[in-house]
Parts: sequence; structure tokens; C-alpha cells
Amino acid sequence: MKVSYHGHSVIKVEANGKTILFDPFISGNGNTDLKADEVEADVILLTHGHNDHVGDTVEIAKRTGAKIVAPFELAEYLGNKGVDTHPMSIGGGHEFDFGHVKFTQAFHGSSYTEEDGTIVYTGMPMGILLTIDGKTIYHAGDTGLFSDMKLIGERNDIDLAFLPIGDNFTMGPEDALTAAEWIRAKQVVPIHYNTFELIEQDGKGFANKVQPGKGTVLEPGDEITI
Ligand code: NI
Ligand code: MN
Repeated sequence: MKVSYHGHSVIKVEANGKTILFDPFISGNGNTDLKADEVEADVILLTHGHNDHVGDTVEIAKRTGAKIVAPFELAEYLGNKGVDTHPMSIGGGHEFDFGHVKFTQAFHGSSYTEEDGTIVYTGMPMGILLTIDGKTIYHAGDTGLFSDMKLIGERNDIDLAFLPIGDNFTMGPEDALTAAEWIRAKQVVPIHYNTFELIEQDGKGFANKVQPGKGTVLEPGDEITI
């Protein structure tokens, strides 16, 4: 299957004839190669309600008919905007026609800020385990380091993990290195950095410190096959 990175926390997975987008923050993302009015999607997976993760979800879903899989409160909120949603919550897994999705915990916040500044509660933030075509991908969402990542690593055979390294709002590189060790993924890709000045980090420096051969930096638009 093809997995590509599109800046910030945007990941695209193409497998089983489906296109799955994680956290499609495109408008306002100066670090992406995607165009919100052109990107294709059958499924949109969301980790939490922050605007830099929900991004262009509603517009893309309305144009493509994509199903949105999201934390319960966020799914309710988006469902009210007339898009197709499937609510889930931490610890819950579900077998979809494209693959299996399980939501894990993440330590962060979760709310959506409307254009007028109103803040809408969107439940708990989460990480996502996507198992598709025999491979398991872990998108950690936005999170600090937590020791139950060991449990996630013990109980899942993770082929590819996307970990935030931007610091300030999430783990920084040092904590993400410990996370990489605990989740035991075969391959680790840093995300959620260099989008804004506040989260500027050395992705290659991080990747080089991940256990030899396991760290990979993807620039926006880069694609790997797993
Ligand atoms: Ni966030
Ligand atoms: Mn974020």
C-alpha cells in the first residue's frame, strides 16, 4: 500500500482501492502539497477537534462523500454539518469495509474554535491504529509521552508509526524517541513540526536517533510503500 505525508499531521493511505486521509489540515497549512478542493478521500480519520487537525474535513467530505471516523463528540459536531460520520471512542475498535480502526488514548486537549472565536467541546483527544491490508499504522495524534505506549507496543504489531515531535503542544524530539522505543514500530516518521515557527524541529536529527534504520523523514508529498 502507498502511504504519503502532506505536512503537519496529514497522512494519506491508499490501500484496498480506498483513499484514507488522517487529519486533513490543508487550508492555512503552509507546509502541505495538497489542495483542499482537489484531494480525494473515501474515509477521513480524525484524532481530535483542534482546527489544525479537523482542517478542511467538512468541505472534503461534502465534495467526495467521504465517511468521517472521529471521537464521539467531534463526530456529533461534524454530523450536524450534514456529513456522514461514524463515532468511536478510546479503546474501541471497529471493522470497516476498508480495514480495522481502533482509537487509543492521547494526552492533549480537544475543542474546535469557530470563526467567531466560540470554542466547541469535542470530547477527548485520541490516537488511531489503522489495520489495513495486513499492515498496522499508528497515528499518535497530538500527545505528550505516556507510559501506556508500552502497552500499545506490546499488544500491536505496528508497521509504521507517525509521532509528533514539534514540542510545545506535543512531545518534543526527546520524548518522541522514548515513544518510538515503547511502541516498537518497524518504522517511525516524525510529524507535527515545522508548520509554524513555534514547532520548528530537526526531523532528520530525530530520525537518525531512532533505532538504526527505523527512523524515516518524509517531506510533504513524499510517499512510501509498505
Ligand atoms: Ni491539537
Ligand atoms: Mn495539533
